[in-house]
Amino acid sequence: MPFSSPRTTLTQYLIEQRRRYPHASGRFNNLILDVALACKAVARAVAQGRLADMHGLHVDSEGVRVNVQGETQQKLDVYANQTMIEMTENSGHLAGMASEEMPEPWQIIDRPRGKHLLVFDPLDGSSNIDVNMTVGSIFSVLRAPEDVIGSGRDVKAEDFFQPGSSQLAAGYALYGPSTMFVLSVGHGVAGFTLDPNLGEFMLTHPDIQIPPDTQEFAINASNSRFWEPPVKRYVDECLAGKTGPRGKDFNMRWIASMVAEAHRILMRGGVFMYPRDTKDPAKAGRLRLLYEANPIGFLMEQAGGRASTGHQGALQLQPQDLHQRIGLVFGSRNEVERIERYHAEPQPLQWHNPLFVERSLFID
Ligand code: AHG
Ligand code: MN
Ligand code: MN
Repeated sequence: MPFSSPRTTLTQYLIEQRRRYPHASGRFNNLILDVALACKAVARAVAQGRLADMHGLHVDSEGVRVNVQGETQQKLDVYANQTMIEMTENSGHLAGMASEEMPEPWQIIDRPRGKHLLVFDPLDGSSNIDVNMTVGSIFSVLRAPEDVIGSGRDVKAEDFFQPGSSQLAAGYALYGPSTMFVLSVGHGVAGFTLDPNLGEFMLTHPDIQIPPDTQEFAINASNSRFWEPPVKRYVDECLAGKTGPRGKDFNMRWIASMVAEAHRILMRGGVFMYPRDTKDPAKAGRLRLLYEANPIGFLMEQAGGRASTGHQGALQLQPQDLHQRIGLVFGSRNEVERIERYHAEPQPLQWHNPLFVERSLFID
């Protein structure tokens, strides 16, 4: 009887969380609801696609825009960014915001300022927009530094430089076959499915746990020639399957939408890698620390998984730039720890010597 059992709404869940943990500040409940509202608006725009002229590049009076990452902005990148700002800046809960699509922090002007910072990737997986594949929005809530709260001054980039372990809440919306909102306020991870008739996120996945072991990994294998040896070794061992050192077969997946990969891993386990590689030595990795790695890492760890750079826990990293990139590995704990062990082990000499390139399944 799918329609008969009463379900908990996101609002009820947040109230309940506050009751169960009275020592925890519940101040961000309204902020989370504002973020969820923005996600519903973006979900609608994503679903309408070409019908609402939501596909393709964003073009304004200055032509096509390139964001601070050097990536061309799509209409939905810009729409989602604007929607997130408009739906949250009136709440009085925010001291400022930062986003992938804005080079500098966003100031709350002519409105009451609050105690929190909102950091977001308004549209993750942009390359999937025009082909109608799953995309999402990722967000992170931080407490503003005390002097910001005390003085109400404008926020600076440095105010956002807080390690992922200090996030108060993090989550994402997934615009897939159903729209979902997945959230952690620091006490586990809960998943909500949008009931389009009621316009409400309903609690459907109350306590998401990632299995510690997995036989599924996700990596963009077209970069294999640039991988560092520990990553190459890990993938080779997975590909060797039953007859290799792991003694079991693995499956591989790649959606090119990190938020969708994270969701799959939260649902059934797995490991995701976008490691540091040698493709562009100027970049420490592909994914951004503050609005991709930290919120997704927080969810992983709250669900019993792990997030790492390969060398250290991702959530322990001290950010140094608003748009800083890192190498990122996350998912089932035992696999992430194995990848970390491979990084920690002394590397065989030939790996440092181009004359002795290791044979692998990707290099004949
Ligand atoms: P964004 O769309 O916010 O720029 O992020 C895209 C990211 C991430 O979602 C995904 O894992 C990765 O880019 C895909 O990269 P490739 O195109 O190299 O597969
Ligand atoms: Mn992204
Ligand atoms: Mn994005």
